[in-house]
Amino acid sequence: MVDILPLCSYPSYLSLLPSIQTCNITNLPENYFLKYYMYHALSWPQLSFIAVVRPPPNSKNSDYPKVVGYVLAKMEEEPSDGVAHGHITSLSVMRTHRRLGIAERLMRMSERAMAESHRAHYVSLHVRVSNTAALRLYRDTLGFEVEKVEAKYYADGEDAYAMRMDLRDLWVKGDKEGGNPSGEGTPAKMKKKREESGDDDAQDEGDEVGSLGKKEDGKEGEKMVKVKIGRALGVGDLVERNEAVR
Ligand code: ACO
Repeated sequence: MVDILPLCSYPSYLSLLPSIQTCNITNLPENYFLKYYMYHALSWPQLSFIAVVRPPPNSKNSDYPKVVGYVLAKMEEEPSDGVAHGHITSLSVMRTHRRLGIAERLMRMSERAMAESHRAHYVSLHVRVSNTAALRLYRDTLGFEVEKVEAKYYADGEDAYAMRMDLRDLWVKGDKEGGNPSGEGTPAKMKKKREESGDDDAQDEGDEVGSLGKKEDGKEGEKMVKVKIGRALGVGDLVERNEAVR
């Protein structure tokens, strides 16, 4: 069975980076130093995902967990258009595990994390114009659109499609109502907006949790003391009970 999970949720995930690098080198000509994987994992821990096959029960085989796919993703650090957006650095699935929907799930999970954690407006990527499988995935399955063709983008002279997909539909509700990444949607600004419009929802309806026994208006609150009661009553032998009310 293949598990798909955030790279950083995996125990000792740094030890998996060489397997991710192997999955990259096996399937793509665009390769990176190990420190570049580490840079992604440490800078944007929510955005990169891996597909792993865990060891069978009682197996001592050191080949596990096997990385059979990954998406390496980041937030654009200095976006030229000034709009917060994510970028897919690299995506790859081992031949043995293709056409199982793994790449689609890796991509969707990363896109959601970009939108929810970073309020990314859109996600961008580059893909070789000859890469039919990836193009089908991005354009037909996921809904990316070709923004432009970048001539001789790759080291061997091949052109790239620069593609992007809007992510604002994936923003959490408050973010969407709040507007843009300039800060219009910060909780403080949204609260002020609601107060100005006289919206009752602006009031805090949450009661304080665990307030029993605290002082109220300067008066002594109800005092809680620990008492022993019998196990036969079907509860633990020590509970908190209000001894003031009998
Ligand atoms: N031919 C045509 N369409 C395909 C193919 C293919 N070989 N593979 C995937 N698709 C399309 C289909 O529409 C598919 O849906 P379907 O199976 O219901 O028809 C859809 O994509 C989803 O396919 P997945 O099973 O999720 O894709 P998979 O896990 O097989 O991985 C990938 C696709 C990543 C392109 C894989 O073939 C691969 O690793 N290729 C080599 C590396 C590569 O090209 N990576 C992308 C480079 S661009 C970049 O990294 C930003």
